Amino acid sequence: MSSYHFVIFGGTGDLARRKLLPAFYDLLSGNLLPEDFKIISIGRRFRVKDEYLSALLPFIKNNIRYSFEEKNWEILRDSIVYLQMDIEEEQGYDKLKNILQKKESQRIFYMALAPHFFEPVVEHLDEKGLVENQAGMSRLVIEKPFGSDFPSARKLNNKISSVFPEENIYRIDHYLGKEMLQNILVIRFANMFFEPLWNRKYIDNIQIVSTETTGVGDRGEYYDQSGVVRDMVQNHMLQLLTITAMEPPVNMDADSIRSEKVKVLKSLKKIDENNIQQYTVRGQYGSGSVNGEEVRSYKKEDGVADDSTTETFAALKLFIDSLRWQGVPFYLKSGKRLSEKLTQITVEFKKQFHPYYQKEHPDLNPDLLVIRIQPRESVFFQFNAKEPGPQQSIVSEQMDFCQNCDPHSSTPGAYERLIRDLFAGDSTLFTRWDEVEYSWKFVDSIISAWQEQKLEFPNYKAGSEGPAAAQKMLKKDGRKWWQINPDTTGGNL
Ligand code: BG6
Repeated sequence: MSSYHFVIFGGTGDLARRKLLPAFYDLLSGNLLPEDFKIISIGRRFRVKDEYLSALLPFIKNNIRYSFEEKNWEILRDSIVYLQMDIEEEQGYDKLKNILQKKESQRIFYMALAPHFFEPVVEHLDEKGLVENQAGMSRLVIEKPFGSDFPSARKLNNKISSVFPEENIYRIDHYLGKEMLQNILVIRFANMFFEPLWNRKYIDNIQIVSTETTGVGDRGEYYDQSGVVRDMVQNHMLQLLTITAMEPPVNMDADSIRSEKVKVLKSLKKIDENNIQQYTVRGQYGSGSVNGEEVRSYKKEDGVADDSTTETFAALKLFIDSLRWQGVPFYLKSGKRLSEKLTQITVEFKKQFHPYYQKEHPDLNPDLLVIRIQPRESVFFQFNAKEPGPQQSIVSEQMDFCQNCDPHSSTPGAYERLIRDLFAGDSTLFTRWDEVEYSWKFVDSIISAWQEQKLEFPNYKAGSEGPAAAQKMLKKDGRKWWQINPDTTGGNL
């Protein structure tokens, strides 16, 4: 039986308290944790374990999906070792070594920290000889952001890979832990009626949208150095794109899947100063009203510069230079303070009707397949059918398979899945270095071309659909963004 030490650097931070430890509680409730494990939670804020636990408890109660039970909390509590240490000082690592040496175990080091600490912590772990023991090489888990551009990501990668081999490095993109994202593979490759149509012959365009109603909250300082392209596109959005567009992997193991994803990233048509105008729209929110609440503009958020030119919205038109996708636009849209929280992929099929329908019903809607990632987790179809009755009317019909609409259903959170995979040593849902490399190279070129463009910000109101230019970009192509969200529209387009 294996034994594990799960070490969380940043154990008192937001991520650990809101996501990681509640996920541990849920895994425990579902009986999905290894029998022999200890969580070593490292922080500076609290002196002793009891203080740490009292502050942690409300976060657990508010962020779990199972109901709270004292007996599970006791088990979790007993499995936590709290270590107060300053991660910049050597002595702390000696204390950590003492704890770890009490038992031979598979060690998992989780960096739930501000990114500038990643390299120094890895250095200390290496210097103190904590990385390898008789149970083997430890695993290193790195949260995003993995660098802020390609050169900084490469520097970070050189450092960590001088200590950990690639197969023991787990780069987190929490979107990969979302149930419906994993479902894309099943939908595409375990059904006869999608894959034969999944190419430029039958698909007109694909829209990948991930919008939020929230602003930057208390992360203004980080966000102002980042913007939506670094924060959402380089990672989550490009992951959605690669899974949607990749070729069938020869196998469903981590490397086969990740190799196919990399091929998509390598085939993306470059966006630079020559085509930036045509292929991108960016925006920044002004004040406005979101869900009935008046909110301030981006520039007035805490930590944001008064004259900030950081983008909080981006719409992109991408092309993949491959046999399968030649000429098919992939439209991506992401932003903060928009009208709804929604992540979904819409596949719009080409219109190819019988000549009779082309003549008599020229305005028929195209067929659509919508894979909804969140908040609704569903697969939605729109197709044409005859309206019952003597007249020859055709209407759009919609079918919706929703897997989280039943109030008794409860989908595992992304971190539950990812933590389980960390214990199991399965890296399929973590990004390999070359995925990070090519996605940074792609977005760096966009960001640098934007620097030449002067725009007046803000250019969209909080609570709106984003800048008007994003609608125009599709209109020019004779298309539109599909707004299909049955939670708000009752399924109507
Ligand atoms: C994070 C970004 O990676 O993803 C945030 O840094 C964003 O800015 C968040 O709000 C969105 O995640 P989710 O799971 O709420 O869609």
